[in-house]
Amino acid sequence: ATIHDQKPHRGAGGELHQFAEDGMPVLTTAQGGPVSDDQNTLRLGARGPALIEDFHFREKIFHFDHERIPERVVHARGYGAHGYFETYESLAAYTRADLFQRPGERTPAFVRFSTVAGSKGSFDLARDVRGFAVKLYTQQGNWDLVGNNIPVFFIQDAIKFPDVVHSVKPEPDRQFPQAQSAHDNFWDFITLTPESMHMIMWVMSDRAIPRSFRFMEGFGVHTFRLVNAADESTFVKFHWKPKLGLQSVAWNEAVKINGADPDFHRRDLWQSIQSGNFPEWELCVQLFDQDFADSFDFDILDPTKIIPEEILPVKPIGRLVLDRMPENFFAETEQVAFMTQNVPPGIDFSNDPLLQGRNFSYLDTQLKRLGGPNFTHLPINAPKCPFHNFQQDGHMAMRNPVGRANYQPNSWNQGPRESPVQGYRHFPAEEQGQKVRLRPESFADHYSQARQFYISQTPPEQRHIAAALTFELSKVETPVIRERMVSHLMNIDETLASKVGHALGFQSMPKPADAATPTRQDLEPSPALSIVER
Ligand code: HEM
Repeated sequence: ATIHDQKPHRGAGGELHQFAEDGMPVLTTAQGGPVSDDQNTLRLGARGPALIEDFHFREKIFHFDHERIPERVVHARGYGAHGYFETYESLAAYTRADLFQRPGERTPAFVRFSTVAGSKGSFDLARDVRGFAVKLYTQQGNWDLVGNNIPVFFIQDAIKFPDVVHSVKPEPDRQFPQAQSAHDNFWDFITLTPESMHMIMWVMSDRAIPRSFRFMEGFGVHTFRLVNAADESTFVKFHWKPKLGLQSVAWNEAVKINGADPDFHRRDLWQSIQSGNFPEWELCVQLFDQDFADSFDFDILDPTKIIPEEILPVKPIGRLVLDRMPENFFAETEQVAFMTQNVPPGIDFSNDPLLQGRNFSYLDTQLKRLGGPNFTHLPINAPKCPFHNFQQDGHMAMRNPVGRANYQPNSWNQGPRESPVQGYRHFPAEEQGQKVRLRPESFADHYSQARQFYISQTPPEQRHIAAALTFELSKVETPVIRERMVSHLMNIDETLASKVGHALGFQSMPKPADAATPTRQDLEPSPALSIVER
């Protein structure tokens, strides 16, 4: 039978299947009504005015008018794929998380890679941090490891997040530059925020222009906890290592690629997965206890620090394979809602002040971005394990309690019930202290790891860092900001500082920056700042 032979018929449930004259299913309105003409509005006479009675036209246009939702306030441009995570060995000694108990067991995954600063329509090869957000649909609820491809962050406290993001996004009056860090606001903020120095070295390095998502590392950044069945805690840092290895492009390549194909990274992921060439990463951990943490002169709660892999090698514990592209970009990649606070029993937080703030921010922003409290009803966000609760109603509620009971305990013998045994138990860390707004002394060293990173680079990579700094700072129009950055570089590596300083035309090198005066208020007003013309 050809498609043309399709006749209207009723299905097993009595539903009416109707076919157009060419055998295709009949186009309907959102209400299911069959449409006779999708090319012409209803008019009074062929050349006359349109009639408001045309419900098909009104519905079609109304729906189109409402297609856009707010883009993510950061990480707006992203690209996702489905896959699975496979556990190598039982980690029961460290965590009671169900996904880490049985070797070979697979957990469904969705991953979204992103750039941070650019808007949804920006180009892929910006010099920027890349998001590496993983949602694992475990049997004990979703675990979101919302990481980046750089293991440290710009700031130590979440209260600074709006500032760092405002500074890197287009300036509010002129609304440029788009998707790049080469501008005064960004470098003003960075140079007034010495804690950003370690991350800025990574961002000026080749790490910030990956060849493709398939060649990127990922990091959970913060110190987390694993907690076992006996409620014993082990600190953990999470790393994703690409099976293909780490590769980047050079800056002049990135500039050309952005011009020729702004979708280069998403096209690469699409083509590799569609052709069966599935990208793969190993999940690795650095595990350590409090004594080990105390042996460092930096703080393991400080998200601007790494634990060097030479000191604590990473241990592979499983692999992530991406093997399926979304059927619909909007439904999946755009509507997926990652949240750091999504953790299953056996995975817990540390007191990293950036992580603690993130745990508030993601739920809050999803509420706005996805239009209400029921975004977990969307298939991409719903758990893939059985789940039961008495949440009800609200905009777009797809699930509501069935039966009489919508509270507990109740006398109707209707569940669900909480379980102290199966349920999530927060690690009972001992805490005490005064309520203060105070950065701990252990967070004070902003240069040692920046230096370590620079020194660990090969000579060509070091040249790229110097070139990137020179290029970026040459776009900064305010002299004192350029000078401030070079004075920070003096604390990181004097050769680097002098290379950049000379390339920027400095006659002599500035004094090394004083890390103890990070905020604008603490600086003498600079005459250069007040006289600059833009
Ligand atoms: C989005 C990573 C710090 C707030 C994202 C995304 C990633 C990410 C990967 C994109 C998620 C996606 O693909 O949908 C990180 C990392 C951080 C960090 C690794 C530091 C280590 C913060 C902080 C805040 C924050 C400190 C706020 C206090 C947000 C918000 C979004 C976001 C509001 C948009 C979420 C959405 O609309 O879906 N972050 N972030 N992030 N992040 Fe962060």
